[in-house]
Amino acid sequence: MTQFKLNGRDVSVESEDDTPLLWVVRDELGLIGSKFGCGAAQCGACTMYLDGQPIRSCVTAVSDVSGKEITTIEGLSGKVADAVRDAWVKLDVVQCGYCQSGQIMAAAALLSDNPKPTDDDIDGAMTGNICRCNTYQRIRAAIHVASDTLKA
Ligand code: FES
Ligand code: FES
Repeated sequence: MTQFKLNGRDVSVESEDDTPLLWVVRDELGLIGSKFGCGAAQCGACTMYLDGQPIRSCVTAVSDVSGKEITTIEGLSGKVADAVRDAWVKLDVVQCGYCQSGQIMAAAALLSDNPKPTDDDIDGAMTGNICRCNTYQRIRAAIHVASDTLKA
C-alpha cells in the first residue's frame, strides 16, 4: 500500500510498488486529465507535480511518491494556473487537446519559477512537451500573455 496526497487530499492505493503513478492516478483514482503518450519520459503528456516540481508520471513508480504531494491538472490552482488557463482560452491554443494538460502543467511550472520568460526560456522549459498538432507557436504566445497578466 502507498499513501500520498493527491490534489490536497490523502489517498492510499493498493497498486504494486512499481506501478507507474500515471496508471494509479488514472485507473485507481479516476483522474484522467493526465495522459499517456509515450510511456518513456519523452513527450510530457503525463506531467504532474511532485512536491511542486514537474515529473513524468509514466516513469515514476507509485512507491516513490509515498508521503509526498502530487498535483495533477485537476488540482492545479492559484493565480499562475488561472493566468495560464485564461491565456490558453484567449489564444485558442488547443487543437486535439491530447497534450494540453501536460503543456499547461509545464507552462505553469515555468511561470512560477520565472514570471517573465523570454522566448528562449519558454523553448527551453517546454522542449520536452510534444504536440503532434504543432501548437507550439500558440503555446509560446499564450505563455507571454499569461506572463503579462501576472505582471499587471
Ligand atoms: S507519457 Fe510520460 S512522458 Fe510521454
Ligand atoms: S493539441 Fe493535439 S497533440 Fe497537442
